[in-house]
Amino acid sequence: MAVDLGGTNFRVCSIKLNGDSTFNLAYSKVAIPKELMVAKKASDLFAFLAREIKHFLQQHHGDHFEQHSRRRMTSSSPDGYKDEHVFRMGFTFSFPVQQIGINKGYLIRWTKGFDIPDAIGKDVCALLQEEIDKLHLPVKVAALVNDTVGTLMARSYTSPGKTGAILGAIFGTGTNGAYVEKLSKLKKPLAGEYDNSTGEMVINTEWGSFDNQLNVLPNTKWDDALDKSSVNPGVQMYEKRVSGMFLGEILRLVLVDLIKDPKISLFRDENSNSNDWHSTTTIAQNSGIYRQWGLDTSIMSVAAADNTPELSILRQELETVLQIYAPSLEDAQAFKAIANAIGRRAARLSAVAIAAIVLHSGKLSDPAYKDEPIDIGVDGSLVEHYPYFRDMIFEALRAVEGIGEEGAKRIRIGIAKDGSGVGAALIALIAAGMESKSAAATAATGKKTNSQFIEELRSEARSKDIPMFTIKREDSEKAETTTDE
Ligand code: GLC
Repeated sequence: MAVDLGGTNFRVCSIKLNGDSTFNLAYSKVAIPKELMVAKKASDLFAFLAREIKHFLQQHHGDHFEQHSRRRMTSSSPDGYKDEHVFRMGFTFSFPVQQIGINKGYLIRWTKGFDIPDAIGKDVCALLQEEIDKLHLPVKVAALVNDTVGTLMARSYTSPGKTGAILGAIFGTGTNGAYVEKLSKLKKPLAGEYDNSTGEMVINTEWGSFDNQLNVLPNTKWDDALDKSSVNPGVQMYEKRVSGMFLGEILRLVLVDLIKDPKISLFRDENSNSNDWHSTTTIAQNSGIYRQWGLDTSIMSVAAADNTPELSILRQELETVLQIYAPSLEDAQAFKAIANAIGRRAARLSAVAIAAIVLHSGKLSDPAYKDEPIDIGVDGSLVEHYPYFRDMIFEALRAVEGIGEEGAKRIRIGIAKDGSGVGAALIALIAAGMESKSAAATAATGKKTNSQFIEELRSEARSKDIPMFTIKREDSEKAETTTDE
């Protein structure tokens, strides 16, 4: 099983391995209520998550759930219930944590609009397990995973070729990346228990907080305004210029400035003659444009995708989503140009982080990669839905010294759809395997390099000569079968 708390939604999924390298995936998604993102007590949020896990089990694993409830009623453990943690659950928790064990990590800080001071410094696995146990659910939090780590894992397993992905990255509500590093290169002292037999470790970079001092990041008065009125001023400065949660707000702040400027006639055709729709333009008083976070980034995708001569799709969207009635063609063109500039800046900044990891990895000059692509797994609403986002990333990669035209051709950026969930479930499986092995056995089997490990994971699937991943959605979302981008 896997759950994913990462931003806008909480997702629960269970994965059944069919033994033939395919699996079935049951999946549910619920928006996280805004008030819980800034709850007083950590337990308010975590109790909500546990309740969602319970609903999911009842809905998708009803038989199992019933049997478990019946059995536990007849058991003789101290609190009257038997400890039957049947499901091993991977917990994708996409916030910065100091991880000190496979299922133990202390929250460093919240990001992406969450702000529950009570949770800071606490073990987030224990917080969730406590609420799960209160409901007597047959679930054990077996692994703590950042979404980028899950994405790296899932992409390494699914991406075609001999070598695994070198980077798992998220460009969604937030942005971040994880890659595999040699232990010998790590400078920070590491707390907690970990297996060092491979000589490597996955690093969650938390690049969203890159250059919080603004030494090199571009900065405008709108970036400043956004930061000042955020719940975490001064941090996640790179993320605040790159990810989906923030781009719409930057656009909104620019637009409000232009609307207020008497010298500029944006959304202000008061004479129907000056408007190509022969109407006057009005902005409803309750339009999201006048509210913080009131302009959802998704309208920027509509703007980028609308290539009709009159921008009629975007203008329709301005009416229905932002209550800006009868915008003129010039209004829509201005909106589109500003939105594109913000989106393009985000994509080019994204390329900086990707390029840094590619160059740092040395893979472009590694003989083992001579005939292999440098594979990067990505996920997130921005990279999935913002038109030309990947194209703009490549445009920028080609301009980076040390990568250039030739290097960019060797980089493959592929979507790892739902990678964080699938990756977390895979990691939970491995964690369950680790639990059942003796320490000695773990040490004996542990001496594998990363690529041997990936190869082992994949070889079983290949030997069956069928696509590695066949995902069947069992819920209301549309059925989907996927092997790669
Ligand atoms: C934020 C979180 C990080 C996460 C990223 C993408 O930057 O701090 O942990 O990976 O968002 O969801």
